[in-house]
Amino acid sequence: MSKNSHVTIYEYDAVIVGSGLAGLAAARELTLAGKKTAVITKLHPLRSHSGAAQGGINAALGKEDSTELHEFDTVKGSDYLADQDCVELMCTKAPETIRWAERMGAVFSRNEEGNIAIRPFGGQSQPRACYAKDRTGLTLLQTIYEQAYRAGIEVYDEWYAGDLLYKEGKVSGVVAYNIKDSQVAIFNAKVSMFATGGHGRAYRFNSNAHANTGDALSIVARHGLPLEDMEFVQFHPSGLGGSGVLISEAARGEGGRLYNSLGERFMEKYAPNAMELASRDVVSRAIMEEVRQGRGVGKDGQSVKLDLTHLDPEIILTRLPELRELAIAFQGQDMLKEPIHISATAHYSMGGIPTNINTQVQKNAAGDLVEGFYAAGECSCVSVHGANRLGANSVLEALFFGRHAGENMLKALNEGITLRPAKPEDAQRFIDEMNTIKTSNGSESVPKLREELQAGMTADAGVFRSKTSLERQLKLIDELLERFKNIRIDDKSNTFNTDLQEALELGHMLEYSKFIVVGALEREESRGGHYREDFPERNDEKFMVHTYATMDKAYQINIEWGKVTPGKFDPMERKY
Ligand code: FUM
Repeated sequence: MSKNSHVTIYEYDAVIVGSGLAGLAAARELTLAGKKTAVITKLHPLRSHSGAAQGGINAALGKEDSTELHEFDTVKGSDYLADQDCVELMCTKAPETIRWAERMGAVFSRNEEGNIAIRPFGGQSQPRACYAKDRTGLTLLQTIYEQAYRAGIEVYDEWYAGDLLYKEGKVSGVVAYNIKDSQVAIFNAKVSMFATGGHGRAYRFNSNAHANTGDALSIVARHGLPLEDMEFVQFHPSGLGGSGVLISEAARGEGGRLYNSLGERFMEKYAPNAMELASRDVVSRAIMEEVRQGRGVGKDGQSVKLDLTHLDPEIILTRLPELRELAIAFQGQDMLKEPIHISATAHYSMGGIPTNINTQVQKNAAGDLVEGFYAAGECSCVSVHGANRLGANSVLEALFFGRHAGENMLKALNEGITLRPAKPEDAQRFIDEMNTIKTSNGSESVPKLREELQAGMTADAGVFRSKTSLERQLKLIDELLERFKNIRIDDKSNTFNTDLQEALELGHMLEYSKFIVVGALEREESRGGHYREDFPERNDEKFMVHTYATMDKAYQINIEWGKVTPGKFDPMERKY
């Protein structure tokens, strides 16, 4: 460790930003193998958003199921945009991943024979979501944290990572500050990984934790590196009306039904076979269409009813206890007695930092690699979800690819990847960013700008999009980027300065939101979670490709197209 007056430099074999399932799974592998590993997180690990995953983790464990069927459902769900080699790897490793988690101590719910219980989820031809009541993510997070801690991981919690050390095609760590006292440090490492989760807070209605501000995406993009498929945002069909808080798909998996204000079970019109268990993009559009047609419920008419009152109360009490509590707490609606009000909520980012099948970050659409840099979980795009993710595949992706990243980082370390020593000056760009925010004495307020961004994203870059709505949102983002230069924060101190942190986060939100909007404008078709009212059909001839978008210093975005890895499943029309 070396130190000058401003910046401490810590040296590690590996540094991992993010402490959800992906980050902790990687950190555990590396630490067990004796590699000096730092985990940096702006929260405490047990507050990571992985803990909010409710309904399940997919693995083909059912008697009628197979990994090939799991692959097929995943590829079909992705609207054929997923890379099929990555899908095959994840689905074939899913049963082993469940056993691994169970051996570490994760207590899954059981069926009557004593085997791990599985429940149906949307877009799946067989029940395959393994679960722990409706607290699956939390159970897994507690388990992996316990085991990573036992292995001896070093956690820098309540540290905010703000920049990447990237030069000449190689990453050699990150710059971060301690939220407690604003001290900046460099984490200089031979290998680095981003596992920072999602970006749903860019939307007004979302199911995401406050921390899900997608910082890693723009940190990467500021170095001229690409983001992949950012236009694909998943809207989960059931967020509590008004707040967007997640009501797991497990509610529909256990038999919940959707009704409009006329009492019609409207999914009959949109997905006559799968009904409420069609894939998420299909159900979300159906809900929003009912609302648009004036058949919504609730004070503002923006919700529909999710009815579980016909179920045996024991099912709710034993398998969905948290959902019941959430609906009572937020809406005063007890699902044992009455339908609850739900609406589509921004939930998940299919796009992110592009990686190859081994979680190594790519620097262009041709697939050239950044040396020493890895990403996994929701901030990454490997891509197993393509244009739409299947429910219960995200926890699997985070756990499997997180561990896989750890193994691949370990391999690079064992093969002798070297440390490029950092200098204190490497932290300067981030220090300048922090100082600019603290000293700026403008007239704009961070919460106000954030609210304008979020409202616009939900209205104009949401479930339904068009050239007109997207251009309106693009104009708004450009204006907000200008106004952001004129902000003022009230807290000028160095101690737990949440004003500073929220301003840094808003800078990131504005930038990656521009990627979402520009990608959505360029993709003149409808596919998965991306629905263009002016281009309602999928166009495989032109758009069976990934977007790789880069941003210049003036926030102009340039899009290149990259190939999709085909496999055993040829594109077909998607019907549910
Ligand atoms: O509905 C849910 O329980 C969410 C799960 C997921 O996003 O995979």
